[in-house]
Amino acid sequence: MSPGVPSGTVRIFDTTLRDGEQAPGAGLTAAEKLEVARQLARLRVDVIEAGFPAASPGDFEAVQRIARETKGGVAVAALARCRDGDPQRAIEAIRVAERPHLHVFIATSDIHLAHKLRMTREQALAEARRWVSHGRERLGQDVEIEFSAEDASRTDPDFLLQVYGAVVEAGASTVNIPDTVGYAIPAEFGELVGRVVALVGRDATVSVHCHNDLGLATANTLAAVQAGARQVEVTVNGLGERAGNASLEEVVMALRTRPTQFPQLGSGVQTEQITAASRLVSYLTGFTIQPNKAIVGGNAFAHESGIHQDGVIKNPLTYEIMTPQSVGLSGSQLTIGKLSGRKGLQGKLRELGHDVEGEALDAIYREAIALADAKKEVTDSDLLALVEQRAAEVPASVSLLGWSVTSSGGGRSTGAVTVTVAGEERSADTTGNGPVNALYGAVDQAIGPVLGWHPVLTAYEIRAVSAGEDAQGQVLVRCRRSSDSGAGALAVSGHGLSTNIIEASLEAYLVAINKLHGAEIGSVRAAFVAPAAAQEKP
Ligand code: KIV
Ligand code: ZN
Repeated sequence: MSPGVPSGTVRIFDTTLRDGEQAPGAGLTAAEKLEVARQLARLRVDVIEAGFPAASPGDFEAVQRIARETKGGVAVAALARCRDGDPQRAIEAIRVAERPHLHVFIATSDIHLAHKLRMTREQALAEARRWVSHGRERLGQDVEIEFSAEDASRTDPDFLLQVYGAVVEAGASTVNIPDTVGYAIPAEFGELVGRVVALVGRDATVSVHCHNDLGLATANTLAAVQAGARQVEVTVNGLGERAGNASLEEVVMALRTRPTQFPQLGSGVQTEQITAASRLVSYLTGFTIQPNKAIVGGNAFAHESGIHQDGVIKNPLTYEIMTPQSVGLSGSQLTIGKLSGRKGLQGKLRELGHDVEGEALDAIYREAIALADAKKEVTDSDLLALVEQRAAEVPASVSLLGWSVTSSGGGRSTGAVTVTVAGEERSADTTGNGPVNALYGAVDQAIGPVLGWHPVLTAYEIRAVSAGEDAQGQVLVRCRRSSDSGAGALAVSGHGLSTNIIEASLEAYLVAINKLHGAEIGSVRAAFVAPAAAQEKP
């Protein structure tokens, strides 16, 4: 059947860096995107959709960099509207890839045609054909050209089939059926997919792209596979617009755990890398994972009740349908002490899904040994937190030289900071309703006059990285600039990690400030959504 996919496999098309990154506030820097792409390559997905190059120069550069640097047989895809300018930018960005994959789309439902595109069905069909042919001519016969009919599940099925037939004739090798607004129900979606497979399945791979507005994205995706779809579009942690996309880990583990429901079918995903991928994406985007999230939630393999614990001890099969090891949760927790060597650390990191060497290994080693001095036990979670912290590093134009705070019950707190801002040393002090508030106010006063804005804090979270009273605190903040407002405002996250939570809070605030400033001056090659382009994203 599916000509572009080896028989017996479902192609895993990961769109964490495109649709996932469109989740409001999930913006990543180009360096962070590259870090995620490397992890996706280790996870062995088949296709990485790296972004939407026409959205902004930052998006273009991020896609091109991922295309250039991703090796090992993973295809790199870029999205483009069927509109003059978009496909050309996408082609330019991905043509350096080992395996380029062009993804063009246009909406086909009457609602979208009438109210968004203001086009007739005939015009949309003509544009679809035109840009698929353009891609085929520019990229040649061997490159994957994918066409998506946006809002397919609310499109008149006869028109939808007409569009898919036409684009395959024009050269599309994959046709994607997006349930853009998460409206479909599994049986009905499976039937629609079956009709598309019957029409074009001999000449093209049929793909699905399901959103989770009714909580059915995974169910719809699996129904589609049973109906003959051989590419699934998914994101790590189900990240994505609104309620998100079908979750990679759920779809992949369902295929693996229920072989009788998906006879002779599997994915090439290295499932032991799932936990590392999930943690990295959560960390970099600042989207925490709910504890009861399937596969990757903190409680996914925890057994609380006595009856369950007793059963699992006697035989894990009583209450576990897959092993924690199969998704990369290592059984051991105690990992490193003051006397551990670099090699031991490297091996442990590899076990946790991270290949670290050279300078990065040295730096993590130094931090881990310092941590082993500060707390009794350095656990897997501590090590993962150190690795993730490095992945999010940004060039610092604002650095902290010193801080102090006084705080007592019932009164206001006073905070003082000294920072350097673009080489200039500045100090400020102020009061606040707590120590963090006072210190953040002092930072604002110190940097505001130089930068012309101060950060506006839109979220602040703190969690302990591991158990115990000496645990490291990890602080997540999300900020925008005071000079921006509205839905398209650039929003970034920042993390801090320390056994001192005030220090972790300051560190997180400074990371966010440096990301905002870096995006402004171009030192952080932002893959961030520029406000104007944000409105245009699919
Ligand atoms: O949800 C959607 O329709 C999309 C398409 C661009 C594939 O993301
Ligand atoms: Zn989507």
